[in-house]
Amino acid sequence: MSIKVKKKAPLIFAIGGAKGGVGKSLVCSNLSIQFAQEGMKVAVLDLDFGAANLHTIFGLSKPKQGWAEYFEDPSQNLKTFLTPTKQKDLYLLPASGFVAEMADLEYSEKVDLISKIKDLPVDIVFLDLGAGSSKDMVDFFTIADYKILVSTSEPTALMNNFEFVKNVLYRSLKRIYRHQPKLLPLLNEFKKHSGATIQKLIDSLAENDEWQSEHVQALCNELSIYIVFNQIRKIEEAETALRLKKVCQKQLNIELQYPGFVFYNEAVAACVQKMLPISLVLPQSITSRIFRRIAHHLIEDSKLAKKDSQLLSIAWSHLDQDFKKNKAEAKKRLLLRD
Ligand SMILES: Nc1ncnc2c1ncn2[C@@H]1O[C@H](COP(=O)(O)OP(=O)(O)O)[C@@H](O)[C@H]1O
Ligand SMILES: [Mg+2]
Repeated sequence: MSIKVKKKAPLIFAIGGAKGGVGKSLVCSNLSIQFAQEGMKVAVLDLDFGAANLHTIFGLSKPKQGWAEYFEDPSQNLKTFLTPTKQKDLYLLPASGFVAEMADLEYSEKVDLISKIKDLPVDIVFLDLGAGSSKDMVDFFTIADYKILVSTSEPTALMNNFEFVKNVLYRSLKRIYRHQPKLLPLLNEFKKHSGATIQKLIDSLAENDEWQSEHVQALCNELSIYIVFNQIRKIEEAETALRLKKVCQKQLNIELQYPGFVFYNEAVAACVQKMLPISLVLPQSITSRIFRRIAHHLIEDSKLAKKDSQLLSIAWSHLDQDFKKNKAEAKKRLLLRD
């Protein structure tokens, strides 16, 4: 008699963020390459239908097939639409045009799609999400095993990403408590008011339902979100970035994880011109090394099934040295150019 061993479902990493142009696709492409180079089989799904560009980042000027073809008949096998890339063991499902069906997916359809994604014969799936806090983007982010937010340290990006995290918390709670009439008005209050804190909601609940109030607190503790700050030009910008951690602690009882800071690097733009991610073109550049470090932290966390609260101090300890190396590389490039 043979025993059927259930295939292990891939871990899903979602890369999201409230703003466009901050580097979500940069983070997604480079982290996915680092995972593939560690010997894992990786699928990257471009879910940014408004501004799909992952295929160009990976050097495919015109993908032959992608989501548009899949949605012609969603009963098809997702695996068929994966395209190999220049990185061994890394496959891409490109957007291939605007996909109207995707914009109208119900939550249950998103859950179904995620379960199809979990059937892909790979170890890791990366979802490159579009900008903004739309229901779709927040839901895909919320459903993922690992949630990675990308931001710059600009005040507007920080503010918008705070709203994004608040929305993630709101949608997670709303889904769990949708049949609990007592909690819904409190949740709506929390969503509506910019200064509202989750602690206030927890305290109000505790007045007549201590168990539920503890449950909400536990959910906040479990909701783990990593944040990668990108395009840092000065060390002080990394300090500014910590404001988001403080406000999420204070208003949402959520502890953001900081696995690394990525500096502004002109070579990144040059690689975009070459239509290849920097991790493939310049694997020894400081930017590629930072991505390798971030990937290692995430791999360690996934092996131990934990989210490490020490990441910020590790990332912080590298900051000065990385900044100097990034500057030295830029200077060297300038000298070579002259
Ligand atoms: N660290 C960086 N240094 C230099 N340029 C960057 C950096 N990160 C992103 N960029 C540039 O910003 C642009 C937007 O990046 P992208 O990853 O497409 O953002 P998003 O997916 O968030 O819209 C790209 O053209 C990219 O070259
Ligand atoms: Mg993008």
